[in-house]
Amino acid sequence: MDDRQRYDRATAQLDPPFAVLDLAALRSNASGMTRRAGGKPIRVASKSIRSRPVLERILAMDGFTGIMAFTLPEALWLASTGLRDILVAYPTADRAALAALAADTRAAQEITVMVDRTEHLDFIESAVADVRDRHEIRICLDIDAGYIALGGRFRAGARRSPVREADQAADLAADVAKRPGFRLVGLMAYEAQIAGVGDNPPGNTALTQAIRLMQARSRRELITRRGRIVQAVTQVADLEFVNGGGTGSIEKTTREKAVTEVAAGSGFFHPRLFDFYRDFTGRPAALFALPVVRRPAPGVVTVLGGGYHASGAPGPDRLPQPYLPCGLRYDPDEGAGEVQTPLLGQAAEDLRVGDRVWFRHAKAGELCERFATLHLIDGNEIVDQVPTYRGEGQTFL
Ligand SMILES: Cc1ncc(COP(=O)(O)O)c(C=O)c1O
Repeated sequence: MDDRQRYDRATAQLDPPFAVLDLAALRSNASGMTRRAGGKPIRVASKSIRSRPVLERILAMDGFTGIMAFTLPEALWLASTGLRDILVAYPTADRAALAALAADTRAAQEITVMVDRTEHLDFIESAVADVRDRHEIRICLDIDAGYIALGGRFRAGARRSPVREADQAADLAADVAKRPGFRLVGLMAYEAQIAGVGDNPPGNTALTQAIRLMQARSRRELITRRGRIVQAVTQVADLEFVNGGGTGSIEKTTREKAVTEVAAGSGFFHPRLFDFYRDFTGRPAALFALPVVRRPAPGVVTVLGGGYHASGAPGPDRLPQPYLPCGLRYDPDEGAGEVQTPLLGQAAEDLRVGDRVWFRHAKAGELCERFATLHLIDGNEIVDQVPTYRGEGQTFL
């Protein structure tokens, strides 16, 4: 039985739209990721999962420790349900959440917040000033791991932290150390230009060569700089962890001596944008099904919904991929629509009203912002149904 038959059979009783997670694909992706990590732990990036029961399943597998959360309210919620070791990977300006963190013994033990400048420390201090008997706040420093060349005229990587060099990192670390109520426990340096940029994109060979060259140079530069930064900061604080990388860089990041753990999330669901890397392949694990509702003309079907564009710089690669049956494509005049989406191609000839088309999202966790439930498929049956964050009434972004 091929995947389409398997998914159709397993979900025959459901009316689309709905979302599924193929557990065999998830397990296979997870074991590929731990193999690539070569024994270093993987911190699970919750933004790319956005379902608590799925996070729990992943954390129960060997090789995965801790969560990389995306907001402090999310981290507080996860900690309140018993999850542990939660690093909030992005700075927060949520005063109420900071006050709640400082007031809660368990949350303060399990959650670490991110800073990249003294302004963040000042902000946290003022947010927790009125909390009586407040707990120490665990702090991680975010370091810019981007690549800069040509005297600053070329830049690759996410624009995040202003802290780039060892002396800047040591100064900020010293600022944390001298303030009562803070404890510096970690460093994070995420190399988006390597981890999040496929080095094997379709088509354009000049672009492919340019990406590979940039990534090779960036890696070389980062190995030295990250090492220097870790050395400088460890003069000031005992670090529990040094985090780097993402799904696309697991084997490279974990090879660096200075790095103690890697973060990864997208690799579990293996969305469309992760098809374009040389070092690894994965199996599409998270899919959504839309129903065929019209057949406007020969070679065209229209499905309900579909306009689930992914975040990032806009472009056709941000659209969901019509996945099964193979051979369907968007109408260039309409793309993926708000309420309905025409699909063209030979495969449309065999589809009837009520049949489903299976899609993959371009990114991972954003799928779960569209659906309240993930139907878990093992083999050719549904074995469980679990809520997404949205299904639990939790929408953090
Ligand atoms: C700080 C940080 N670490 C790691 C990742 C990698 O996540 P993923 O494995 O989902 O690509 C990201 C993604 O944006 C990130 O922001």
